[in-house]
Amino acid sequence: MRVTKALEKALWKKLREFAEWNGVVSQRPLVPGSPPGAFRLPRQDSYVGFCKEGRKKMKYQYKEMPESMSGTYGEFAKNFGFDWKEFIMGIPTPMFLVTTYKSNGQPNATMQSWAGFTSANHGGGYYVILCSVNKRGHLYQSLNEKKVAVLNFMSSDLYEACMKTIQNNQFEADEITSSGLTAEKASWVEAPMVAECFMNLECRYLWEKEIVPGDDHVMICLEVVGGHIEKDYMEDMFGDKGVLYNVHYPINPEDVKEKGCDYVAALRKVNQSYEY
Ligand SMILES: Cc1cc2nc3c(=O)[nH]c(=O)nc-3n(C[C@H](O)[C@H](O)[C@H](O)COP(=O)(O)O)c2cc1C
Repeated sequence: MRVTKALEKALWKKLREFAEWNGVVSQRPLVPGSPPGAFRLPRQDSYVGFCKEGRKKMKYQYKEMPESMSGTYGEFAKNFGFDWKEFIMGIPTPMFLVTTYKSNGQPNATMQSWAGFTSANHGGGYYVILCSVNKRGHLYQSLNEKKVAVLNFMSSDLYEACMKTIQNNQFEADEITSSGLTAEKASWVEAPMVAECFMNLECRYLWEKEIVPGDDHVMICLEVVGGHIEKDYMEDMFGDKGVLYNVHYPINPEDVKEKGCDYVAALRKVNQSYEY
């Protein structure tokens, strides 16, 4: 069959309608030389599901690292222990400063974010799993020695001071004071806590486990023994001045930018859930 200009135009129109219907229209030409208004065709491996309105939506699928991420930080970060999937499928995690005493008696402070919180033991305890603690860091060392720690939650205006603890990480240093923060003794465990943080959770070490045997990071479970909460935060500790979240270098593999960054985020309530 001879493809006339008119037939070609009609085909492009039909394909465009199909692409629009699937919500996959691209602003930039994807195939060199493609006509103006060209669109991204659904990939072979794409899954078409249904959105709320009943219209089909296209979903990208990623099982192997997309070629577009080659040579970017998303690939390079493997050297720091991060899998490429984290940058495409990352879920924000709460950010806090874990404080302990080092074996020389100096306060240690470690930014932590890969973590989750839950009740367990039939409602008999509140626990935190630090999902990925570096075995070579001071936190791991001091937690294993002292078996206690404090989790300090900072508001956004304290973020920079808390981040300074990463630079002031010398073994001899009081990492809290040298970062412009105030170290206080915790009430129930032998650990320092940060006075300026709006919430301090005193914890005791329960157990640790490697996610994959032989890994250089471990999962550590702590039990929350008790907590201190600043008066102004009693009603609500979320929102702009509340608990911070770490958004780790998001990458859109369909439109990889030359540079990216991490973000610090806060929660916004969107729906009321149950009332009881
Ligand atoms: C936002 C943020 C979150 C972090 N989360 C973790 C974490 O979950 N696990 C970890 O091992 N290191 C984490 N780090 C890196 C440590 O804070 C950093 O390596 C620190 O210097 C280690 O201190 P330490 O040797 O006193 O334990 C994080 C850093 C930042 C900035």
